[in-house]
Amino acid sequence: MHFRPAVDGDLDRLLGCVVDESVSWAHPERLLSFLESGNYRYDHIWLALDEDSGEVLARAVWWGFPGGEPYALDCVYVHPSVPDRVATAAELLERAHAAFGARPAYHVFLTGDWREDPKALAGLAWRREAVARAGLTDELERLRFAWTSDEAVPEPSGRLVLRGDDDDEVFAEAFRRVAEGTLDHATRLALRATDPLAQARQDVAEYRQMPGDRSWWRLAYSAADGSLVGVALPSANNAGPVVGYLGVVPEHRGNGYVDDLLAEITRFHAERGVQRVVADTDRGNIPMARAFERAGYRVFAVRLVLSAAPDA
Ligand SMILES: CC(C)(COP(=O)(O)OP(=O)(O)OC[C@H]1O[C@@H](n2cnc3c(N)ncnc32)[C@H](O)[C@@H]1OP(=O)(O)O)[C@@H](O)C(=O)NCCC(=O)NCCS
Repeated sequence: MHFRPAVDGDLDRLLGCVVDESVSWAHPERLLSFLESGNYRYDHIWLALDEDSGEVLARAVWWGFPGGEPYALDCVYVHPSVPDRVATAAELLERAHAAFGARPAYHVFLTGDWREDPKALAGLAWRREAVARAGLTDELERLRFAWTSDEAVPEPSGRLVLRGDDDDEVFAEAFRRVAEGTLDHATRLALRATDPLAQARQDVAEYRQMPGDRSWWRLAYSAADGSLVGVALPSANNAGPVVGYLGVVPEHRGNGYVDDLLAEITRFHAERGVQRVVADTDRGNIPMARAFERAGYRVFAVRLVLSAAPDA
């Protein structure tokens, strides 16, 4: 078997890979549109080829922001004829990780009831084992919520005054405060390794790379005393409008402000004529998940994130 990154001339080979299992995959339409947008790049796709026929025996596809490093592993495919799919996929990933100098997390999209779905469990089982061998052993389940325009558009509560600010440093400082005591797994891990303000600046930079408009971002202040309550960042990703980010500073938690901030974001999108707003949150971030349910958001899928253990 010959392992190498893909090149322009591989397009037909890449389009010929078909995943007939109940897990998300880089299907031809996705492949073509992301190669065009720059979210996929040939050098961020790795192949294992049959030495004689040149056929694709395995393929791994990473997603990234255009012009950026590989951000997330999006698809792992091994042809069903390969006797040891786990070993082949693991070797492909290890070689790519060595070339990238990083081990980006694997994001698998599943239905909400994947634990009861034998096809999804089977499709996931060998992939999970392969990525674990390549060092991605940490598992996080993120619930994917969606609001659709047949739900009511929430009215403002009047408890908050919202303002934009062109200065990223103002948002970085607000992000830093909101991240204190967060229940979000990725932020908690990042804060173990990074200074809180540096971490907040990285998050701001990441949200700036999203297709949503920077001018949509809002800081929320208490209408009663003018103190900072939190942030609300309606945004968008490749697939459409998203909640983006919201958070409440520790001293204002427990007063239901999460509902006001989420309502603000939902209303903002609804007023622009948006039909569907999507949001992800960790299964363990109970206050956030409950707020989505109260606001008429429904779980439509799960994003399983398999990543390198923090000290690995
Ligand atoms: C999630 C978050 C917005 C909830 O805000 P909130 O306005 O305090 O939410 P609620 O008022 O509905 O809180 C419900 C309960 O959860 C508790 N709670 C809220 N956030 C908590 C936290 N980070 N840690 C522990 N408990 C928390 C509240 O104290 C309250 O408890 P009570 O019912 O005993 O009074 C807030 O925790 C936060 O900003 N977290 C960091 C950022 C984040 O996770 N954003 C979502 C990313 S998708």
